[in-house]
Amino acid sequence: MKKALAILLVLVMVMAFSGTAFAAGVPNDQKPVIWFNRQPSNSTTGELDMDALTWNDKTYYVGFDAKQGAELQGQMVVDYLQAHGEGLDRNGDGVIGYVLCIGDVGHNDSIARTRGARMALGTAVPDPQQKLTEIKTIDDVDSSPIGTNTDGKATDVQDGSITIDGKDYIVRELASQEMKNQAGATWDAPTAGNAINAWSAAFGDQIDVVVSNNDGMGMAVFNAWSKEQGVPTFGYDANSDAVAAIEDGYCGTISQNADVQAYLTLRTLRNALDDVDIMTGISIPDAAGNVLSEDLFYYDEETRCFYALNGAVTEANYKDFLDATAPNKAFSSQLDEKDFPVRNVWLNLYNAADNFLNATYLPQLQNYDKTLNLNVEYVKGDGQTEANIIDRLGNPDAYEGFCINMVKTDDGASYMMKLS
Ligand code: BGC
Repeated sequence: MKKALAILLVLVMVMAFSGTAFAAGVPNDQKPVIWFNRQPSNSTTGELDMDALTWNDKTYYVGFDAKQGAELQGQMVVDYLQAHGEGLDRNGDGVIGYVLCIGDVGHNDSIARTRGARMALGTAVPDPQQKLTEIKTIDDVDSSPIGTNTDGKATDVQDGSITIDGKDYIVRELASQEMKNQAGATWDAPTAGNAINAWSAAFGDQIDVVVSNNDGMGMAVFNAWSKEQGVPTFGYDANSDAVAAIEDGYCGTISQNADVQAYLTLRTLRNALDDVDIMTGISIPDAAGNVLSEDLFYYDEETRCFYALNGAVTEANYKDFLDATAPNKAFSSQLDEKDFPVRNVWLNLYNAADNFLNATYLPQLQNYDKTLNLNVEYVKGDGQTEANIIDRLGNPDAYEGFCINMVKTDDGASYMMKLS
C-alpha cells in the first residue's frame, strides 16, 4: 500500500512539473499562438485578418514596421545615387535604369518595399486596384510587377527624374518580376539569379542599379552579375553574408532587427504561458533584467501586433552588423529555471529554403529559446503548401504554445482549425 502511494505521489509530481502533462489539461484553442513574420492579412488588399489576430486572448503577431523599412530602403538608394553621380549612367543614355526583384506579390513586406523603392525613385503611380488617382502615402502606390519596360511604356510605373550634381536624368524601372519558382516558392533567390541572367543578356548596359525586396534575391543577383559589373545593388534583411558583401561592393541593406523580433516571438509566448503582463521583459524589465529599449519596437494594442523598427546598413556602419546572429546582451540573461520551468513549444518556418528566416531569424530564436527556458520543436515547411506544415503538427496536445509562420498570409484559418 505504501509503495502504491509512493508511486502515486511520484506520478503526481511528474504531472505537475512536466510541460506535457500541463498541456494535456489546456484545450488547444486556449493556448498561446504567436504569428510571426507573415502577418495574418488579405494577400490582395493587405487588410489585417482580425479573426486570426484575436483568435484567443493569448494571440499576438510579431513583425516589423514594413512601411518605415520600405521608406528607409528607398531613401538609402536615392542617397547613394546622389552621392555617386559620376559613372552611374553606364551607357550614357541619360536614363538611370534599375531592375527590381519582387519577393511575393501577396506579402505585406514585399508590397511595401516595392512601393518604397518606386516612391523614392519617382517611378510610382497610384494603385488602380484601389481606384486611386493620386498618391498621398506609400500605401497608395501600385506595387504590381511590370515584366520588361525598356521603352518606358509600362502603365504600372512611370519614368521618374533625378538631378545629380546639377545634371538631370530620367529614372526608369526597366524590369521587375515576382521571384517565384515553378513549384510556387516565393522570395526565391535562384529565380532572381536566372532573372538577372535573362535581363542582362537582353539589356545589360541599360541596368545601372539593382533593387531587391530582400538580400536572398539581392545577393543572388550580386553574385551572378552585378558584383563583376560594379552595378550598385541593394537588398533588405542585413543577413550576415550580405553585410559582409558590402566590403566587396554590395551597396546596402536594411536591418529589420531580427534579434528583437525573435526575442519578441518567444517572449510574448512565454509571458502568455506565465500569465504575466505581456510587456514583461519587453518594456518592463523581467526578473533577470531583460528589457527592450523603446526605440527598437512598438506595440499596437488594438490589433495585438508588435513591430520592430528598421535601420539602414551601408558602407558607413556595416562593421557593426557583421554578425546577424549574435544575441543582444540587453535581453539575453537566462530566466531562473526554478521560477520559470521549461515549457514545450511548437514553431514553424514557412520555408526551409528562405535565406532570412534560416540564416538570421532561426539562430536568433535559438539564442532566446535558451534565455526563456523554452523547449522548441522547430519545423520547416516547403514554402509552397500550408498542409506540408500543418500535417506535421500531428499532436498539438503535446505543446503548450505555438509560433506560426504561414506560407500564405490569408491562411490563418487553417491553423486555427487545426487547434480547434
Ligand atoms: C524578409 C524576407 C523573407 C520573408 C519571408 C521578409 O520579412 O525580408 O527576406 O523572405 O520575410 O516571409
